Amino acid sequence: MNSLAVIVLAAGDGTRMKSARPKVLHQIAHQPMLRHVLDAVAPLRPQRTLVVIGREMAAVAAAAAPAETVVQAPPLGTGHAVKTALAALGEFAGDVLVLVGDAALITTETLASLIAERRRAPQAAVAVLGMRPPDPGAYGRLVLATDGSLEAIIEAREASPGQRAITLCNSGVIVFEGRYAPDLVDAIGNKNAKREYYLTDVVAIARKRGLLCRTIEASAEELLGVNSRPELAVAEATMQQRLRAKHMAAGVTLIDPTTVYFSADTAIGRDTVIEPSVVFGPGVRVGEGVEIRAMSHITGATIGDGAIVGPFARLRPGTELGPRVHVGNFVELKAVRLGEGSKANHLTYIGDAVVGREVNIGAGTITCNYDGFLKHETRIEDGAFIGSNAALVAPVTIGANAIVGAGSVITRDVPADALALGRGEQVEKPGAARALRARGAEAKRQRAKGKERSKV
Ligand code: UD1
Ligand code: CA
Repeated sequence: MNSLAVIVLAAGDGTRMKSARPKVLHQIAHQPMLRHVLDAVAPLRPQRTLVVIGREMAAVAAAAAPAETVVQAPPLGTGHAVKTALAALGEFAGDVLVLVGDAALITTETLASLIAERRRAPQAAVAVLGMRPPDPGAYGRLVLATDGSLEAIIEAREASPGQRAITLCNSGVIVFEGRYAPDLVDAIGNKNAKREYYLTDVVAIARKRGLLCRTIEASAEELLGVNSRPELAVAEATMQQRLRAKHMAAGVTLIDPTTVYFSADTAIGRDTVIEPSVVFGPGVRVGEGVEIRAMSHITGATIGDGAIVGPFARLRPGTELGPRVHVGNFVELKAVRLGEGSKANHLTYIGDAVVGREVNIGAGTITCNYDGFLKHETRIEDGAFIGSNAALVAPVTIGANAIVGAGSVITRDVPADALALGRGEQVEKPGAARALRARGAEAKRQRAKGKERSKV
């Protein structure tokens, strides 16, 4: 079996992002770019995975875990970063795959084909993943020999006008034959425009030693390097397209796919229908045959089979909907469990609550869960009916099959099967409306007369 070590470069400052946050922690589909890269690498089952990070990048190390991290300080260029990682790796016979942490759309299949290309007889010392982006811009250019092998990589700012016209570019993904890697990388110098150690110089160095270098091409869309906010937005759009395609392929109906936004970890069962303009934050699991209606925003929620959510529903973290639950328009749920068949169809806030099965929660019901200092729990047991516009002041329990009258403010527990009314009592005064109107009309006449007099 061939062995594999992976080095991910993530020590750069990412200055073009204009951000307080390290570049590789910027998110695509609610997941750090670095995590996407590591997820693409994992199925290759490397023996070692080393992430090169900068000083004071504890957050990057945390996002990289369980991969090992190596600190490169100060960051003197991609060649220096790989040298630092190789020192930590020690002697390694096998493939050493180097990736840049800011090309987050890379797929496992593409990485596998690059490794296969290097191993193909006659084996190459170095294989580089190439691409033809619509605008080669600042990417390194791949210079090919007449036999199609790779001769050199020239960084854009070092390139002659003729070299800059080359359309084949360096994606930043390179695989080495491990035995050659330390020697080749040690030979990199920094006599260039940026006074940096360019990893890309290894190709010319290897050629000078008579070693073979090769390149294969993959789609530029997949190999996009994110250096700025506009590029981050392009990467996000590509990832969203992929996620939409993935869910549809797995049996989910998206009525207007381009308006639905997923997180990388969104899980959805088949025969679920998602209407336009729905946003999934991280940590959402949706069952089978669910209907998610337009304009809903869902984060950290689990939705049972056959449930109906929205339109205009907001499910916040800790929401767990049982099977066949209905959550309608302008309903906000947070840290709440709704049992099978329960309904909250209109204009409601329920937070920090446990709701049983077949409960009906009327329009405008609010759980008053926060007293300004602490959060308190509301329990609504099986079969209870909460009338419209009830305020349930937590901590409070509504017993099974109890009924809470509309407009009630409930501050004490309601026993099972009881009817609870917590509102001012109704009074009727026969004929009083007519008398009131007569009095009002008379007062208005008197005032009009007064004004007439003051004019003369
Ligand atoms: C690099 C390549 C370029 C290629 C492009 C692909 C070099 C010299 N250039 O350019 O040929 O077309 O990627 O996207 O390699 N990093 C470190 N330590 C450092 C410097 C950078 O770990 O000292 C990391 C960065 O965090 C980043 C990655 O290496 O994740 C690439 O660095 P970046 O500055 O973005 O390189 P590019 O200029 O994009
Ligand atoms: Ca880059």
